[in-house]
Amino acid sequence: MMYGPVEFSEADYPQVEYQRKQQFWDPIRLALYTVAIVAIIGIATGIVTHFVVEDDKSFYYLASFKVTNIKYKENYGMRTSREFMERSHQIERMMSRIFRRSGDGRFIKSHVIKLRPDENGVNILIVLMFRYPSTDSAERIKKKIERILYQSLKTKQLPLTINKPSFTLTSIDSKKMQNLLNSRCGIRMTSSYMPLPASSSTERIVQGMETAMEGEWPWQASLQLKGAGHQCGASLISNTWLLTAAHCFRKNKDPSQWIVTFGTTITPPAVQRNLGKIIIHENYHRETNDNDIALAQLATQVEFSNTVQRVCLPDSSIKLPPKTSVFVTGFGSTVDDGPTQNRLRQARVETISTAVCNRKDVYDGLITSGMLCAGFMDGKVDACKGDSGGPLVYDNHDIWYLVGIVSWGQSCALPKKPGVYTRVTQYRDWIASKTGI
Ligand code: ARG
Repeated sequence: MMYGPVEFSEADYPQVEYQRKQQFWDPIRLALYTVAIVAIIGIATGIVTHFVVEDDKSFYYLASFKVTNIKYKENYGMRTSREFMERSHQIERMMSRIFRRSGDGRFIKSHVIKLRPDENGVNILIVLMFRYPSTDSAERIKKKIERILYQSLKTKQLPLTINKPSFTLTSIDSKKMQNLLNSRCGIRMTSSYMPLPASSSTERIVQGMETAMEGEWPWQASLQLKGAGHQCGASLISNTWLLTAAHCFRKNKDPSQWIVTFGTTITPPAVQRNLGKIIIHENYHRETNDNDIALAQLATQVEFSNTVQRVCLPDSSIKLPPKTSVFVTGFGSTVDDGPTQNRLRQARVETISTAVCNRKDVYDGLITSGMLCAGFMDGKVDACKGDSGGPLVYDNHDIWYLVGIVSWGQSCALPKKPGVYTRVTQYRDWIASKTGI
């Protein structure tokens, strides 16, 4: 027999199974899990926002530089001149070429503010808009912009020769940017100071469409007769002057009886004013609708904003070819003899040549040189009652021009009976003689 260390088999011990407490949801654990879940959701949201939504902010800069390979022209001093328009579009196109190609997609757009004479060249003042993460600093972005620009001066074949030492860039806030842009007409902005894209929207009347955004047609006004409500549309052409149709004042020519509202709804209006003066064209004829144009002056001026803005008046030389896309807007009825709409509506129509519009089966010679037809030969889309006096506008590189004033038509949206508008270019000198604009 051998003696060794005394060994007991495990089996000899009484097996006591301590019952594990299955209290999963004890307070500490609960707290930990909650924190973990919240953290995961937080991180996930952060990632999504960073890559998808991204907390971007608009940054604005005023750039000034000299271009040496062009000569200053007298008409550059007039913003609505063809020379100013063509030159500024060329500069704006060049800017987007420089910044879009740089690849980071941060550039939004640019707007030439002024073209000034400079010894042997032209000095350009231009607003540049960018969107960068709100965490970026204006100074850092400024450095980036300068780098991109200088780089492209070195490497790119640009149509204009920018004199590098003359280039200055100043960060400006949205208020300053607004003020600078307000020196220009026909610009639309959303409430967040982002430029509105060229209108994607379409029809009203039969097949109509409400305007989606505040500020989409910031020059649109509603002319209301005290006690009788909306009568006509009108377009803001300066901070005090409205352009409208003469026939709107057939019922009442007393300015004290009228009020004007701005904004995309009649009630509530964004801005409201009294009228101080009404000027009806001396040769307006109610029987023929000839010279259906009038000016109305606000009793007190309006401040330009995203919701109130003036439209550009076209140079008298500007001619739109037939089938040009134009937009008409108004609070008028959507069917012949229907009610006024509280919400502004818009329609895309196309210009129609006077030759076609005067055909026997169309308006049979009723269209004079002061009128412009727009719509479609098979009808369906048109202005209607209550739209009178309102704007027909043309989009030229995101700058909007008033080309027509809603004047008359046989019923609404009928085939071969397009809308007839007052041809604004024809009255450019008349407007200038009365307002100085
Ligand atoms: N004369 C009408 C008015 O006083 C508007 C005429 C527009 N009609 C048309 N079919 N485009 O409101």
